[in-house]
Amino acid sequence: MGSMAYEPEGLVFDPTPLFSRRVQRWEPGAIRSLLPLEAIPGMISLVAGKPNPETFPFSKIAITLNGPEETTIVLENAALAEALQYGLPAGHGGLIKWWEGLQQAVHGVGHATSWTCCVGNGSQELIHKAFQVFTDPGDPVLLETPAYPGVSAFLRADGHELIEVGSGPDGVDPSDLESVLSAWPFNRRRPSVFYTVPTGSNPTGRSCTEINKARILRLAKRFNFMIFEDDAYYFLNFEEDPSKRARSYFSLEQEVNGETGRVMRFDSLSKIVSSGMRLGILTGPVPAVQRVVKITENINLQPSSTSQVLALSLFRHWGYTGFVEHCAKAAEFYRHKRDAFAAAAERHLQGRATWDVPTAGMFFWLKLVLPPGKDSFELLSKKGIENRILAIPGMAFLPNMRKACHLRASYSLVSDPDMDEACRRIARLVDDAWLDEFTYTAKSEARQEQALLRSVGKVMA
Ligand SMILES: Cc1ncc(COP(=O)(O)O)c(C=O)c1O
Repeated sequence: MGSMAYEPEGLVFDPTPLFSRRVQRWEPGAIRSLLPLEAIPGMISLVAGKPNPETFPFSKIAITLNGPEETTIVLENAALAEALQYGLPAGHGGLIKWWEGLQQAVHGVGHATSWTCCVGNGSQELIHKAFQVFTDPGDPVLLETPAYPGVSAFLRADGHELIEVGSGPDGVDPSDLESVLSAWPFNRRRPSVFYTVPTGSNPTGRSCTEINKARILRLAKRFNFMIFEDDAYYFLNFEEDPSKRARSYFSLEQEVNGETGRVMRFDSLSKIVSSGMRLGILTGPVPAVQRVVKITENINLQPSSTSQVLALSLFRHWGYTGFVEHCAKAAEFYRHKRDAFAAAAERHLQGRATWDVPTAGMFFWLKLVLPPGKDSFELLSKKGIENRILAIPGMAFLPNMRKACHLRASYSLVSDPDMDEACRRIARLVDDAWLDEFTYTAKSEARQEQALLRSVGKVMA
């Protein structure tokens, strides 16, 4: 965890001029916007159509934690009522406060005054809503490429122009972003969002260096756009020494730009606590987070109370130190998996594929060495299934759906023997692709030879 010496709050960028036209049309939810007032002492509320918890069929929720001590967290009485009842659209106040404290401790930022957090049903939901705040359908959007298809798919469906920004072993390439923006025609609407997965990127497993993040932050200020920092794998970092890990965009912004307010940070509990609980947290400038909450008020009312109260009880039990220790254990688990997959790839895929060893997260991004013109989509969807090997073809991660030789292999659930077998099967696919190519070439050469002989025969006759 970072030191608790918070930086004083400096200049704050106001993101409201970058808001979309569509988000301006959302009114406050008629009922939800009154709910916070229920907490005023002495208030008699006749507002919400809340069901009476006495009618609910539960008397307690008990969850026992893994570990030698078998600790059980029990929700009953008031905590149970809260867990089973409607709550606030921004999320449970206690959970938000806890997470704000975590952000201060982990990212070394000042108290939550110009920034705040809200909770969503997974970070995916929050990312989608944040895009609604800053873009209108059809607007250009800058995407670190390869990109997480969970985001490029909904952007494509909304008719956005997807501008690919290249990345390499050090994460996103700031020079590429700079050349795209410098060459931007003056009469064309400029992108207001750059979306990136900076730690253990999905699909490449690469992490962005601090140097590159600083350059991107400077570009955000110069070209006036927001950075959507989707850090779903932040806590699954394989670098054991925290001082060697790249700090987040959220953490670096003040130091680099002398102001804050351009970073929308998305955290997820899916990879570290439970994906089924569907909890994600957005941290960002107050006006932008408020707009996201306004969408929630109107669309799905709130994130799940049950999941939030359970998560909060767990976090209070752990404290910040326990939380970070738990995440370190999860990272250690995946580091072993990463090592096992790397060893299997070395054994079977040398000369048949290239890859970078992931620095965080759950994915290997393999570039297959295929015959010219062949791509991984065709290979995996036909021969892959026949040979009982499933992986996601690279095309899915290229926002503009170009053909690619890559595939994304996830090692999170696979046993060591299955990793070995998976790499062996991928190797066979590559070998077969070359065999088919040679057979095809040999056959077509033979056909050409026969045709030549026939035509020579005709001439001679
Ligand atoms: C990069 C990235 N962002 C967001 C998500 C969605 O996470 P959540 O479960 O919090 O909605 C995922 C899920 O795999 C992901 O890989």
